[in-house]
Amino acid sequence: MKYYVTTPIYYVNDVPHIGHAYTTIAADVVARWHRLQGHEVFFLTGTDEHGAKIAQAAATHQEPPQGYCDRIAAQFQADWRTLGISNDFFIRTTATAHQRGVQTFLQGLYEKQYIYKARYTGKYCVSCERFLLDDELVDGLCPDHRIPPQEHAEENYFFRLSAFREPLIHALTNDRDPHHFTIAPPERHHEVLGKLKVALADISISRASLAWGIPIPWDSSQTTYVWIDALLNYITALGYPDERSRIDRPVVSNVERWWPADLHLMAKDILWFHAVIWPALLLAAGLPVPRKIFAHGFFTVNGQKMSKTIGNVIRPEELIQRFGVDGTRYLLLAAFPFGSDGDFSLATLETMYNATLANNLGNLVSRVATMVDKYLQGRVPENAAGPIVGEVERRLRAVGAAFDTLKFFEALTAISQVADSINQYLETQAPWRLAKESPDRLPAVLGDVLRCLWLLALYLAPIMPTAAQTIWTQIGEEGHLTETAPRWLSQPPDRRPPPGPPAGRIVRPPSPLFPRLGT
Ligand code: MSP
Repeated sequence: MKYYVTTPIYYVNDVPHIGHAYTTIAADVVARWHRLQGHEVFFLTGTDEHGAKIAQAAATHQEPPQGYCDRIAAQFQADWRTLGISNDFFIRTTATAHQRGVQTFLQGLYEKQYIYKARYTGKYCVSCERFLLDDELVDGLCPDHRIPPQEHAEENYFFRLSAFREPLIHALTNDRDPHHFTIAPPERHHEVLGKLKVALADISISRASLAWGIPIPWDSSQTTYVWIDALLNYITALGYPDERSRIDRPVVSNVERWWPADLHLMAKDILWFHAVIWPALLLAAGLPVPRKIFAHGFFTVNGQKMSKTIGNVIRPEELIQRFGVDGTRYLLLAAFPFGSDGDFSLATLETMYNATLANNLGNLVSRVATMVDKYLQGRVPENAAGPIVGEVERRLRAVGAAFDTLKFFEALTAISQVADSINQYLETQAPWRLAKESPDRLPAVLGDVLRCLWLLALYLAPIMPTAAQTIWTQIGEEGHLTETAPRWLSQPPDRRPPPGPPAGRIVRPPSPLFPRLGT
């Protein structure tokens, strides 16, 4: 099975913050979860580098636009490396190959007469990079950015978006439509469908007055609207238009191999572009539409929207310094359900870190390693597989199902409850008492617990790859979890070998996984 997952490509008008990290970590979890099951994955992220907003940011920094973009794009790449993001490619919209792809695509639509020229007047919000309708304005201002939109009147090229209203409604509501696709969570599907049913107007896809963009191929006095440029990244990253493969048949091109995307992930702010404009462009070009579009919620920090003006923008490294990479990945996804809006405060993240990571999970791993070291000379006992192992495996299978449906909060809550149960099992079995009263029962109890930790590590791996590997090695496994796990997970549950490290392996003495935070 193959799986193609994307994040939005982020604007380089600002350095990466935890809003960008949130979506990127979520996509990384999805990518890792699929790889863990032995699927072939293409995971794409990148940066959106054209348009008025970026041109302004470069001017503010007194840098040439390309140099400015290079600097910020490098920052995104560095931050994603630090956060353990396993993207297979990083697309930049100022790359020559992307620009060529955009021009080929637009030329195709122009030749099919989906593009026409007209005069346009409207109110443009540079921060949104879109036109606002009069009834969207609040006191004459953009509702999101609280700034007055710019009056804009010029001749532009338009895309016949209105021609796709019926086909899109049909594709969204009929699962037998060859272009059927889904929008999740369901409330987002209803929201888009509701708006589509009201009306769908053509959109301007070029600018006459903005130099920082991709020239329209048949009229170099205009540049491509940044959103059209940006959406196309999802296919140009695959090498669209793949000229070589057309000659080279039967070689399958990367576009044929990976397109359509299985999942476009983003927040609800940019859902309309992905759920309506993007599929319409693809339909016009005769290309398949993405299979699923998932829009998660928006979060605030201490109840406020993150903004440079308020000065409450949190950079990923601030969280990493406090919670480590794995802790940061965990906490961002464990704080509130994926799909809902939420709020973060450093204080609540700290409490959660100490309770679930330091006290519960970290402590569990370290006490098990200590006991195996002390009571069994550090050796993994023969397989006993008592009922707790089956129970834990069953509960963790539900975690897999939660990953499949992007229910990260539910997945992490379940993982934490499983860790709780294993801790309780240790309390009731009390190996320290068995050591004195019936030492012959110790191997079965500690063996079971080791097998449970093996399972926990496996299901934690998409979220906390380093901690999972540390647990894996600590309980006596050799090699890399990501190499062993697919062989195990890809088999039907009733045919899998028993979980756990082989008997006789050495359990290493504990090193703290999640050091407790001082107050
Ligand atoms: N460049 C466009 C996307 C083009 S995709 C073809 C863009 N860039 S952006 O830098 O503004 O990123 C928006 C995305 O960043 C959101 O959709 C979301 O994925 C993420 N988030 C930014 N702030 C966030 C929150 N406060 N909360 C949740 N997600 C956040 O739009």
